Amino acid sequence: MLIKSQDNGFIHPASSEITPQRVYAGRRNLMKLMATGAAGAAMASWAAREAFAQTEKPGKLATLPGAKSAVSGATLMEKVTEYKDASTYNNFYEFGTDKADPAKNAHTLQPRPWTVEIEGMVKKPGKYTQEDQLKLSAQEERIYRLRCVEGWSMVIPWVGYSMSELIKKVEPTGSAKYVEFISQADPKTMPFVGSRVLDWPYVEGLRLDEANHPLTLLTFGMYGEVLPNQNGAPVRLVVPWKYGFKSGKSIVKIRFTDKEPRTAWNKAASQEYGFYSNVNPSVDHPRWSQAAERRIGEDGLFAKKRKTLMFNGYEAQVASLYTGMDLKKNF
Ligand code: MTE
Repeated sequence: MLIKSQDNGFIHPASSEITPQRVYAGRRNLMKLMATGAAGAAMASWAAREAFAQTEKPGKLATLPGAKSAVSGATLMEKVTEYKDASTYNNFYEFGTDKADPAKNAHTLQPRPWTVEIEGMVKKPGKYTQEDQLKLSAQEERIYRLRCVEGWSMVIPWVGYSMSELIKKVEPTGSAKYVEFISQADPKTMPFVGSRVLDWPYVEGLRLDEANHPLTLLTFGMYGEVLPNQNGAPVRLVVPWKYGFKSGKSIVKIRFTDKEPRTAWNKAASQEYGFYSNVNPSVDHPRWSQAAERRIGEDGLFAKKRKTLMFNGYEAQVASLYTGMDLKKNF
């Protein structure tokens, strides 16, 4: 984002910390091997032993499984990023601006108990005093690409449900046009809140129809477990066709409004970060190209960058939201 990251303190969790995700990977590998049929049978039986041995080990975080999603485009058939990368290479400026800072510092966040307040132009405002009360709907697993504006991407199995389920429940009034997502900003538990990097709290926003799109995920977990603090526990948004910064973390307020919300990055640098922030390879960031991306975990010396796809690959599902709009102006 605005700050040039040094990316030098990349830390790896102790092996005990990544056991549950090895279990996850084991299960996934097993499924893949099973799918290879007879030729893979011997390997599969070996993988089966390994996967089942691993599932016996206790998880570090509480498990949060999700059923396979029926939403179109929700399950990307690409190699999933390693958990250790997805949970140690993060942007969460409340805990520091280096990619390694959130994993080092976010242990001070207290994700339970948690309150999310729904307010503004809705017939049924209210306070959800426990994260569990927000779990209104069956949890689904969705394998989404997350493409950061900085030029890197990951593929993550998230667990949550469509934001539209919550919207249905709180009943926006006819005047509501936008939804504002406000993150926790507690200087006691978030050491960088108070720094001048951003105007706190972190605020993001969507048009109501974007928030209502079935791909927009209210997210409670990843890799079959509750979210680690550094990924936005206990609840965050994931909007897969937009740059990652639209996906606010550790949300405490959801406000329905008739005005386009002033978002944290838009306030910090409006010429660089627009309200829409749809992934669009043909609109350069003023200081760099957005045509290609580096997939985290594939960063060897000779690893080729991947071409960035329009709407991050979700064009078939979401392009109709923007019919008639100039997406170069509305970046
Ligand atoms: N939410 C809050 N509250 N604070 C942040 O700094 N960073 C954003 C987004 N949500 C951010 C945030 C950015 S820039 C990105 S790319 C994604 O979170 C990163 O999510 P991840 O760390 O789970 O990959």
